[in-house]
Amino acid sequence: MGAGLLCLLWITTASAAQTLDVLHWWTSLSERQAANTLAGALQDEGIVWRDAAIPGGAGIGAFKVLKSRVLSGRAPDVAQLIGPTLDDWGELGLLLELDDVAMDEGWSAAFFPTIAALVRVQGHTVAVPVGLHRINTLYYQPKLFVEQGLRPPRNWAEFERVAARLQRAGITPLAQSSEPWQVATLFETLLLAETGAAYYKQLLQLRRPDDWFDPRVFRALERLRSLKRWMAQPVPQRGWEEVARSFARGDAAMWIMGDWARGELLSLGLDVDREFACIAVPGTGGAHLYSVDTFAMMAGGYGKQREQETMARSLASVPLQLAYNRIKGSVPVRRDIDPAALDSCGRDSWQTFSRGAAVQAPSIVHRMATDEAMKDAIIAQIYRYFTDDQVAATEVQRRLATIMRALQNDTGVRRTPR
Ligand code: GAL
Repeated sequence: MGAGLLCLLWITTASAAQTLDVLHWWTSLSERQAANTLAGALQDEGIVWRDAAIPGGAGIGAFKVLKSRVLSGRAPDVAQLIGPTLDDWGELGLLLELDDVAMDEGWSAAFFPTIAALVRVQGHTVAVPVGLHRINTLYYQPKLFVEQGLRPPRNWAEFERVAARLQRAGITPLAQSSEPWQVATLFETLLLAETGAAYYKQLLQLRRPDDWFDPRVFRALERLRSLKRWMAQPVPQRGWEEVARSFARGDAAMWIMGDWARGELLSLGLDVDREFACIAVPGTGGAHLYSVDTFAMMAGGYGKQREQETMARSLASVPLQLAYNRIKGSVPVRRDIDPAALDSCGRDSWQTFSRGAAVQAPSIVHRMATDEAMKDAIIAQIYRYFTDDQVAATEVQRRLATIMRALQNDTGVRRTPR
């Protein structure tokens, strides 16, 4: 083989190896900007982020596409895989072990312990965490509240008074979509508000059917139904980005949603604290309902291991953590950042999470507490209850208990040592 041909071969393999195919579900304005920030940082390392974004809030579509791509031998190099589902992929040997990177970069000390544990399967680090979202967030319109002489509600009695006043003034008190995952995201927040983090976790970790008959679960369901009267009627089914745009236009006074909504409102040009503000949802002040976004590197042949490791290193670095999370609405997964660099909502999220496991509650809908089957079954029941007023709360409790009985031993209760 001539030197020219050898050289050409080298260039082709080298440039092919410099591209990473990244599958994720970030397609809203802020999500795109946040992903571009990551892609830009990779470019500085000489790696091209080939985007394989699958639209659909909460990754409903992306997960299905990932499965079919892996099954048909077209796995991406990097995938947004989050929560306990990492166990299944890791145990099948589909994920690249990032132990050397984790060791070199001191990840186990740098990350919050819950987050370091989240990315470990059978003692190996198999994913890189990029951001910590807080789901129990209530956004409100500060100017409107001042005009109406209202204070943001700190408990449900205040919430009811504020909502009634707003409604009398002809303002829709609460933004909401009837998309199933968005309804269930509201429900898990209300569940946390009623139970507190300890019982919330007990419900999902021990999965004892009887626990789901607790009056606190009943009250959370009742609250979900009663909040409907503060929403636009009929509750429109629309993507969360659309809800964000509508809230930004002032169509509703309050909105309960994970703090990716804050990222979106910022990207839409709104100023935090002036044009929108956030507080914890009533009854959840000291608690943190979390979802951690993580990327796993798919093992496929180890041909791109160097680039995958470089990407993992870069994503977890302090400067990129700060730049990316500011846009995404989440906060860094690291304990060694200066919280003064965060805005008021972010600081509250980061500081609350820092208080440790006792205040942390894993999101059901955003894949922190169960596997896909249990998550989907819970969402379906909550959605049905929300859309059909004939379904009694006690009936839902019975169905949730049945789900626990049927799927008790599936993932979510960690099978493997972290
Ligand atoms: C969550 C995810 C966030 C955001 C949101 C809306 O599951 O953690 O990053 O994308 O869904 O799609």
